[in-house]
Amino acid sequence: MKIAVMGTGHVGLVTSVALASLGHRVVGTDVDGEKISLLKRGACPFYEPGLEEALRREMSAGRLAFTPEESDALRDAEAIFICVGTPARSNGEANLVAMESSARAIARHARDGVVVIEKSTVPAGTAERVRDTLARERSGFTFDVASNPEFLREGTALHDALEPDRIVIGVESGRARDVLRRLYGPLTERGHLLIETDIATAELAKHASNAFLALKISFANALARVCERAGADITAVAGIMGTDPRIGRAFLNAGLGYGGYCFPKDLIALERLAARLGYEFPLLREVERLNDEAVQVAAAKIEEVLWNLEDKRIALLGLSFKPGTDDVRLSPALALAGRLLSAGARVIGFDPRALANAKQELPELEVAGDAYEAARDAHCLVLATEWDEFGALDLDALREVMAYPIVVDARNALDPARCAAAGFAYYPMGRPPVLPDPSSASLAEGRREALVPTPEELTR
Ligand code: UDX
Repeated sequence: MKIAVMGTGHVGLVTSVALASLGHRVVGTDVDGEKISLLKRGACPFYEPGLEEALRREMSAGRLAFTPEESDALRDAEAIFICVGTPARSNGEANLVAMESSARAIARHARDGVVVIEKSTVPAGTAERVRDTLARERSGFTFDVASNPEFLREGTALHDALEPDRIVIGVESGRARDVLRRLYGPLTERGHLLIETDIATAELAKHASNAFLALKISFANALARVCERAGADITAVAGIMGTDPRIGRAFLNAGLGYGGYCFPKDLIALERLAARLGYEFPLLREVERLNDEAVQVAAAKIEEVLWNLEDKRIALLGLSFKPGTDDVRLSPALALAGRLLSAGARVIGFDPRALANAKQELPELEVAGDAYEAARDAHCLVLATEWDEFGALDLDALREVMAYPIVVDARNALDPARCAAAGFAYYPMGRPPVLPDPSSASLAEGRREALVPTPEELTR
C-alpha cells in the first residue's frame, strides 16, 4: 500500500521504517528540511537502536523515501499517518497547531478516498477537529479519519512497532477499517492482537495507558519513602506485589521517576482534557507532584550523605531520561543535576549516548569521556540512568580515583553487595543503605580508614 507519513520524529520515523519493512511503500515528509536532508542520506537524526540500519535497508530496497515537499508525499497516498509533535502548552493542554496544519496540507494535496490516520498522541475529540478541518478546507473532499495510537518506547521502538502487544485502531467507517486491517495484515497474520474500537476510545486509551504507567511509577516512589522509614526494601516489596497478576511487576521501579517526551505531557494533557470536559481528576496532579518529589528526595539524600553540597564534586552517571536513548527531554537525571548545581556542587556527567544533548540542555554541567573520568576526585558517585554498561563498571577502579567512597544509586540498579565489597558506602532509594564492613579482612588497611570520611574530609 502507498503510505505517507507526516512528521519524522521518534514516532513518525519508526512508523515509516516499520511500515516499509512490512512491505508497504512509504514516503516520509517533515517541515524541518534539515531533518529530511539527513534522512535522504540514510542518517537518523536521533539515536534509536537498530533504526539507522533498518532505515538504510528499506531505502535501498526502494520501499522508503523522504521528501521536504508535502505535496509529493501526499499526492498518491492511500493512507496518511499524522505523526507530528503535540507538545504541552504552558497550561498543560496539548498544542495541536501542527495537527491542524497537517490536516490543511492533506486537504490541499491528498487524493479523494484517502484514509487519514492520527498516530500522534492527541486528546480525545481531536479526530473530529481533523475531520472538520479537512471538510472545511476542500469542498467535496472524500476521506476517512481514523486513530491508531502508538505505544512505542524509546530504546526499543522498532521492536515495539514490529512486535506490538496490541494494535489499536479507532475506525468509524468500513473503508478505514479495511485500509487499517490491510496495513497491519502482516502483523495480524503472525498472531498480533488487533483491537478495533471507536475513535474517541482509541484516542483516550493512549492517554490512559501512559497516565496509568506514570501512576505506577509514582506509587512505587511514594512507597519507597515509606520503605525507607520502615526499614523495608522497595525492590522486594515491588517484587512481591508483582507476583500478583492483577498488579504486575513492570513500572514499579522506584528511583528518580519518569521523564521523556511522553509521560509528563500526556499525564497533564489527560488531566486538562478531563477538566475541560467537566471532570476534576486531581489524582493525576498528585502523580506529577510525586514524580517531582522523587528528584528532590534524591538531591536531599546526596546532601545528607555529603553534609554540604557547596564545592563538592559529584559524578553523575547517566543523563538521558532512560537507558537506550540520547533523549534528554525532561530527563530526571538532568533535573537532579540542576538541583545539585544550584546548591553549589560541581557536577561531572557521563552518558554513553546523551552527552552532547545534555550539555546543550544544561550548559553548566561538566562532562567526562567515561565513567572513570567523571569519578576522578568525586566526593560522591550518583547513578541517575540505569544504562546496562554501568552494571559492569570496575568498582575498585572507580573507588581508587574518587575522593570519598560514596555511591548514591538513584535507580536501584547497582549490586549493593558488590559496591560494599569494593569499599563503597552504598545509598539506594527506598532500600536500606549498605555500608562496608570496616573489619572485613578483604579490605586493605589504608582503605579501611578512607571508608568513613573524617570531619576534615567532609568539610574539604
Ligand atoms: C512511553 C510509553 O511506555 C510508550 O508506550 C509510549 O508510546 C511513549 O511513552 P518512553 O517515554 O519511551 O515510552 O519510556 P518508558 O520506557 O515508558 O519510560 C518512561 C520513564 O519512566 C523513563 O524516564 C523511565 O526511566 C521511567 N520509569 C519506568 C521508572 O522510573 N520506573 C519504572 O518502573 C519504569
